[in-house]
Amino acid sequence: MSYVITIDGPAGAGKSSVAKDIAARLGIKYLDTGAIYRAIALILHESEVEPVDDDIMREALEKITILLEDKAVLVNGFDVTGEIRTPEVDALASIYSAVPSVRKALLGLQKEQEKHGSIVAEGRDVGSVVFPNARAKFFLTASPEARAERRYRERIAKGKEADYDTILKSIIERDKNDSNRDVAPLTVPENAVYVDTSDMTEDEAVDFILAKIKEVLPDETE
Ligand code: DC
Repeated sequence: MSYVITIDGPAGAGKSSVAKDIAARLGIKYLDTGAIYRAIALILHESEVEPVDDDIMREALEKITILLEDKAVLVNGFDVTGEIRTPEVDALASIYSAVPSVRKALLGLQKEQEKHGSIVAEGRDVGSVVFPNARAKFFLTASPEARAERRYRERIAKGKEADYDTILKSIIERDKNDSNRDVAPLTVPENAVYVDTSDMTEDEAVDFILAKIKEVLPDETE
């Protein structure tokens, strides 16, 4: 039988790498819900739709189609996979994802993914709002400084420009936006296992989470 595992947490807690790794180790699909929010924020911004809950926003949302492929995100047929990974889109996604009609429009698309088999879903409200009945839920976090340090190293490793203080400031700002919004704020979902990765390597976090999943789903993960 298929099952859903959720991993929520703030920006830069290592959710993406951990969730991808876990999905690969279990041989199931990985659902990056942040990529959907990033894609919608990018297109709305490019279409000059203000991040407010009004008729203009609702009409614009009706016209947008988002397609999730294995490793790509398509908006209205255009591949935006690379474009959505910039500091500008980090900020835009945080702002647009606080608009209730944006969240509502994307809820169905996220829920649908469950129909195609078992998944590891990663995001900010996947355990609380999107998949409240998930079989195993995790909340992955780390101190803002540890998260900023990781983002900084990631960017340097990719040969991109990076400034630690700017990254830390942006992480603190996004945490504030994501935690204080009215709709689906970032919270630890009920029954979620809280994992602080500040002093853990990625492999340690993956091993810890996999062990918990195997405890809860011994038959499914044999
Ligand atoms: O995980 P990420 O950095 O790719 O997410 C981008 C933004 O999208 C982040 O500011 C919060 C928002 N988001 C959300 O509100 N709900 C989700 N389930 C996933 C992401």
